[in-house]
Amino acid sequence: LEAEITEAIEAASDLNTLEEVRVSALGKKGRVSGLMKGLGKMDPEERKVMGPALNGLKNAIAAKLDGAKGVLESAALEARLATETLDVSLPSKPDTLGSIHPISQVMDEIAEIFATMGFDVAEGPDLEDDFHNFTALNIPEHHPARQMHDTFYLKPDDQGERKVLRTHTSPVQIRTMENKKPPIRIIAPGRTYRSDSDATHTPMFHQVEGLVIDKDTHLGHLKGTLEAFLKAFFEVDAVTLRLRPSYFPFTEPSMEVDVQCEFKDGSVKIGDGNDWLEILGSGMVNPRVLEACDLDPTLYQGFAFGCGIDRLAMLKYGMNDLRAFFDADLRWLKHYGFRA
Ligand code: PHE
Repeated sequence: LEAEITEAIEAASDLNTLEEVRVSALGKKGRVSGLMKGLGKMDPEERKVMGPALNGLKNAIAAKLDGAKGVLESAALEARLATETLDVSLPSKPDTLGSIHPISQVMDEIAEIFATMGFDVAEGPDLEDDFHNFTALNIPEHHPARQMHDTFYLKPDDQGERKVLRTHTSPVQIRTMENKKPPIRIIAPGRTYRSDSDATHTPMFHQVEGLVIDKDTHLGHLKGTLEAFLKAFFEVDAVTLRLRPSYFPFTEPSMEVDVQCEFKDGSVKIGDGNDWLEILGSGMVNPRVLEACDLDPTLYQGFAFGCGIDRLAMLKYGMNDLRAFFDADLRWLKHYGFRA
């Protein structure tokens, strides 16, 4: 029997056949197992002889099976290594890579420029309460200034509180001053919402807020900060700002800022010739806003500004339709997107 099984083991040319041999010899119904079951019926004298003999047979076969298995396994591995070579010269598939949306790219650029001037990035929720979006910014209920914003309101909750989709990033000013004592130097980029939709307005758009609060921060700091930012952002040699008196409830005085950007050779990049480009709203933080945040307006003062990001991106990268930003057209994204 041992010779017969040994022959079958040596003949097995793959692991499956070898496993069949093992089952037919040592499996529950295998031939060796069958012989061992017979031990119970033998008389003690016979068993004394046959017991050790059969055990020896079983062990010898198990050892041969193990050896054959090892050989076949390493042969199978060799065969796989020989066929599964990796051709590193094959081209990859770059088209399946995504790209960074121009808005994300521009937000990163803005954050990086302000970081060099010591500004942190602050965040607030898109879904705001009335206090942060309006009241603390000196826009009390029933004040006509509320009509300046076409606000998206949510249904009132059980307590009758009506949340809003923030109409600007200015509520992040409030959240920052509530949580941190001056000196404060932050920007807050993010999504903003107004019920407004045409060629130059989308219901969701992006702003970046700026806020600086310290003991003697003044308008000159605002102007210098904006000049440095715009010069770096548009990569030009000179920017000229025009500050126009304006009105925002949360700043006093308030001004709108127009800009012209030029290169050394006199060529104009932004605001062609006599044209000024209006880019942001700004002003000195209204003392009433400081008070709403428990800051003493006789001790602290500062400036704030709010700027549309989508427009900055269009100007810098030459897109002409705002709505394309939010169409999710893969061809557009591929063309205007940035590689990581
Ligand atoms: N929040 C204003 C807007 O959305 C912009 C602004 C921010 C103006 C900060 C002044 C100071 O129009």
